[in-house]
Amino acid sequence: MTRPAGRPATGPAHLPLRTRLALLACATVALITVGVCTAAYAVIRYELGHQLDLQLTQAATLATQQNRGEPPGVLSGECRYLAAPACAQLVPADAADDPSGAYLLPVSDTAREVAAGTHAPYYTDLTLHGHPVRMLTTPYTAGEDKALQVALRSDTTAKGVRQATWLFAAISVAGVALAALGGNWMARRGLAPVARLTATAERIAATRDARTRIDLPSGRRDEVTRLAASFNTMLAELEDSVAARRRLVADASHELRTPLTALRTNAELLARADRLTPAQRDRASTALGRQIHEVTSLVNDLIELARDEEPTPLVEEVPLAPLVAHAVETARAHWPGVPFTLTVTPEATSTTLPGVPSRLSRLLANLLGNAAKFSPPGSTVEITLLVGELTVRDHGPGIAPEDLPHVFDRFYRAEASRALPGSGLGLAMARQIAEAHGARLSAERAPGGGALFRLVFAVTGPDA
Ligand SMILES: Nc1ncnc2c1ncn2[C@@H]1O[C@H](COP(=O)(O)OP(=O)(O)OP(=O)(O)O)[C@@H](O)[C@H]1O
Ligand SMILES: [Mg+2]
Repeated sequence: MTRPAGRPATGPAHLPLRTRLALLACATVALITVGVCTAAYAVIRYELGHQLDLQLTQAATLATQQNRGEPPGVLSGECRYLAAPACAQLVPADAADDPSGAYLLPVSDTAREVAAGTHAPYYTDLTLHGHPVRMLTTPYTAGEDKALQVALRSDTTAKGVRQATWLFAAISVAGVALAALGGNWMARRGLAPVARLTATAERIAATRDARTRIDLPSGRRDEVTRLAASFNTMLAELEDSVAARRRLVADASHELRTPLTALRTNAELLARADRLTPAQRDRASTALGRQIHEVTSLVNDLIELARDEEPTPLVEEVPLAPLVAHAVETARAHWPGVPFTLTVTPEATSTTLPGVPSRLSRLLANLLGNAAKFSPPGSTVEITLLVGELTVRDHGPGIAPEDLPHVFDRFYRAEASRALPGSGLGLAMARQIAEAHGARLSAERAPGGGALFRLVFAVTGPDA
């Protein structure tokens, strides 16, 4: 089976929109969470370290004040207990001046340099008796050529940093997990109408059934809902048009059956012409000619009806008065026994209508033809052109009230007119042409008898 058009291929660039949105939302939130946690961790780590260094500086100042002029050696304490004060020792620049007893804290060459004043004070992290310790080595200000080393246990700081690490790592992981869930939920929820829309569109494409509709959530007016609503409107129009086409084809084939049967009968009759009298032969061939003509005009009308819109390139500003005059002239020639009267008001002489002249002529010919066909011989047909309105009125039998709503239907012919030639397509076509020109065509019963057809349109032209 082939893949439906528009279905994504595999590969990261072809991930469904929902997945992409979810990933994007998740990545954004995760990045923010991890960034904020990292920054907070860095600040806390710095602050804790800074605090310890401050304590060490204070301890160094205190030790200097309390131990003025002391010789090198241990000044105070052992850094064994957390609550113990800082331990301190004095280190001479020259190792020869070292005391006989052992130092508490390790003495490096750098410490000697600090004592000699050739190195800046510095901090060291050590482990002493199994405990983490931070040591400050700084010049001893209360005596010559000696360095003061003070140390404090740094367990609490290390523990604090460790806890902060765990805490922020946990927050980051939870944040990323929540972001993944949230992003997925958001994308799923936000795109649910799109998913429904896609599913419906795919279903219609697969089944070619335009009756399907998308369920619209009530009370929502977001972009997707509006898109779905437009899609439904489009589907409704598609359904109408499909139904209209089906009806047209069904009606047409039904209507064509009768004349075609008659045609076949006559043709079969003429095939056995040798058994017919000359008069019978003449009758049959005349009938055949008439039927062929009827079928031809029926087929032509159907083809015209099947066209929905006027072809745009043919649209022009049509001067109405000359067009109507010409149509009346043609009708007079076609129906010599029917007097046609044309009245054009002075204001209407120069009005124009954007349209296709041949189609407008066809509309008029259909109306005038009906008027002539349905009125008794010798009774006038009155045509009046006003600004924005054209009426065709005859003095025939008129249209029965029950037929009025149907005369514009395809193939509709009132009971009384079935004896006259015609297929019932003339008015359907006239209305279709009127609608394509933005005009409205309606039928009425004229006061005093007869039928009145009214075409109302929006004029352009100088007097409009
Ligand atoms: N001027 C009129 N007076 C009385 N009835 C009319 C008039 N015009 C139309 N009708 C009625 O409306 C029906 C439909 O008219 P329409 O022009 O569509 O078909 P038709 O004239 O019968 O056939 P066609 O125009 O296709 O040759 C007619 O059959 C007739 O019953
Ligand atoms: Mg007609």
